[in-house]
Amino acid sequence: MKLNNVNPQAQELIDSLKNSDKIRVLFVCLGNICRSPAAEGVMRRIVAEAGMEERFEIDSAGTGRYHIGQLPDNRMRIHARRRGLELTHRCRQVCEADFERFDIIVGMDDSNLANLRRVSPSPEGDAKIVPMAAFVDVAMRYDYIPDPYYEGAEGFELVLDLLQNACDNLFHALA
Ligand code: 4NP
Repeated sequence: MKLNNVNPQAQELIDSLKNSDKIRVLFVCLGNICRSPAAEGVMRRIVAEAGMEERFEIDSAGTGRYHIGQLPDNRMRIHARRRGLELTHRCRQVCEADFERFDIIVGMDDSNLANLRRVSPSPEGDAKIVPMAAFVDVAMRYDYIPDPYYEGAEGFELVLDLLQNACDNLFHALA
């Protein structure tokens, strides 16, 4: 898959992971209670429907520490549930070890990407960071996945639509 607006290094990363026996994906946002746990849930379902649970390891984390240990935001859980997704992730903060454990670390917006680069311990770690918007191929007003936290129902629905599109494309780029 040719990615949207990403550097050649990110394209190379995706191409190098394609057809690997094991692919470990970490989704990251600020709070780890709205966007990234929803991305994790959407991706888990896609992988399960393809019967590839053994091949993929999927997790999410936040760059912030405000909500550690909590379930996803109630509003996100309700909107996700309407799409048949039960979100049960417990919030955790991204850490240096994640740059060892995961093959690809997908940030939702520019601030997440900048924070991830600060946590990354090495150039090899930096090379694993990719923007989620690179996998969106429907028309959208943003070049990132917008934070729904201060928005209403429409914000949550928009995020779920974008995450579904991005995860479908990410899965096909990797599988
Ligand atoms: P998320 O949304 O990064 O998509 O999980 C947010 C959740 C909480 C906060 C900000 C964004 N917060 O400031 O508490």
